[in-house]
Amino acid sequence: MAKRDYRTDEIIVHWDSSRCIHTGICLQSLNSVFNLRQKPWVDVQAARADEIAATVEKCPSGALTYTRLDGAGEAPPQTTTVVPTRDGPLYVRGDVEVRNSDGELVAAGYRMTLCRCGHSQNQPFCDLSHRDVDFTDNPLVIADHRREAADPSGVSRKSAG
Ligand code: SF4
Ligand code: FES
Repeated sequence: MAKRDYRTDEIIVHWDSSRCIHTGICLQSLNSVFNLRQKPWVDVQAARADEIAATVEKCPSGALTYTRLDGAGEAPPQTTTVVPTRDGPLYVRGDVEVRNSDGELVAAGYRMTLCRCGHSQNQPFCDLSHRDVDFTDNPLVIADHRREAADPSGVSRKSAG
């Protein structure tokens, strides 16, 4: 896992690979700057600082953040939202602090994707382990799988109705 800074005279883009959940949003939003075919993959010279900042703010995980050298930072979101993604992490936006059961601060930021499956090796953040364990958030699907495993013929389901 790596942390990198990419800078111009106007902006520094901070990259924390441990937080990236590979949505591709940055690549699709501003491909001249965020492009996996170039080295380094972030070219901060390729667009205006405003465009880069706007794209960084779309990063749901907080893997990308920035510092503006004129002092204009990212504004905290007006509201705090927590959105479960299908079979995946919670997308959180807001002026958020995550604390452990002792009340100690473990993470803070405006954007983060929090593990919902319990299997991340980078708690409290999602590290895509939910894919390895086939995490599903649909209790009906889980119930179906359990019924099928117990009764592959489906006889008990037919007779239950
Ligand atoms: S937008 Fe953020 S989470 Fe998505 S690929 Fe880019 S850096 Fe990773
Ligand atoms: S939700 Fe992604 S690792 Fe747990």
